[in-house]
Amino acid sequence: MSAKIISGVEIAKQIREELKAEVAEMKEKHGVTPGLVTILVGENPASVSYVTAKQKTAHELGFYSVQDNQPADISEDALLSLIKKYNDDSAIHGILVQLPLPKHINETKVLYAIHPDKDVDGFHPVNVGKMVIGEQCFLPCTPHGILEMLMRSGAQTKGAEVVVVGRSNIVGKPIANLMLQKRDGGDATVTICHTRTRDMAFHTRRADILIVAAGRPKVITADMVKEGAVVIDVGVNRIGQTPEGKAILCGDVDFEAIKEKASMITPVPGGVGPMTITMLMKNTVQAARQAAGL
Ligand code: GUN
Repeated sequence: MSAKIISGVEIAKQIREELKAEVAEMKEKHGVTPGLVTILVGENPASVSYVTAKQKTAHELGFYSVQDNQPADISEDALLSLIKKYNDDSAIHGILVQLPLPKHINETKVLYAIHPDKDVDGFHPVNVGKMVIGEQCFLPCTPHGILEMLMRSGAQTKGAEVVVVGRSNIVGKPIANLMLQKRDGGDATVTICHTRTRDMAFHTRRADILIVAAGRPKVITADMVKEGAVVIDVGVNRIGQTPEGKAILCGDVDFEAIKEKASMITPVPGGVGPMTITMLMKNTVQAARQAAGL
C-alpha cells in the first residue's frame, strides 16, 4: 500500500485563503491591517530564502509587511534597539528575527527583547510558558503547522502513541508538549527521542504517529516505522545543488521506502515547510486582532 501524501502546499493554501478573507474583513470593518516585520541579519542563503517566502506570503494576504535587512556585523545593542523600535510601532503587530544569528549576538537576549504580544514566532518564554500550561498564546509556527496538518488530514491523535525524534526548542519540545495536552490534535501518549536515546528503533516502531525533527538526512529508515503509521517529516536538509544553482532538499526520513509502509506521510519539500510560513501569518493576524481588541 502506498501512503496518502499529506500536502502541506494544499493545506497551507486552504488556510491562506481563510486568512485572506479574514484580513479583508478586518480592513474593511475595523480599519485594521496586520503588520509584520521580518528582520534578517547577514546573508545566510537558507535564511534569505525563508525570509523572502515569508514576505511574499504576507504581501499576498494583504498585510503591511516590512523586510528589515541588517549587516552580519550589526552590534547586539543596535539589534536590540531595532527591536525596541518595532515594539513601539503600532502599525507592526508581529516581529520575527530570522534565526540563526551571527555568533557575536546572544540569540536568547534578542528573542527575550521582543514584546510577548508581538512574538509571532512563539519563542518568548512568556508564550512558551503559556503554551505549556495550555493558555491562549502564540504557538510556535512549525508545531502549530504540524497540528493543523494532522487535524485536517483526519489523523487520530486521541490515545495515539506519538514518537517525536528531536528535542529542539523550536520543534521537538513544543510539538511533544502540545500533543499530550487535552486539546484538538492532542490527547496522545508522547515519547521524545534524541541523540542519546539508547534504542531509537525500539521507540519509533511503536509510533502510530512519528514526527521527525532530527536535522539529519534520512535517519529514519523503513525498518524503523510501523505498518500504517502517520509520518511527519520536519527535516529540510540541503544535500546538493542543481546545475542551475537550486538547492536539492531531502527530509529526515527515507521517503521513498517509508511511503510503501506508512498510511500517511509528508513530502520534503512541500510538507511541513509551507505550513510553518502560513502559521506565522495566522499568528500575525491573531496579534493584530488582539492589539485592536477584536
Ligand atoms: N529559523 C529556522 N526556523 C525558524 C523559525 O521558525 N523562526 C525563526 N525566527 N527563525 C527560524
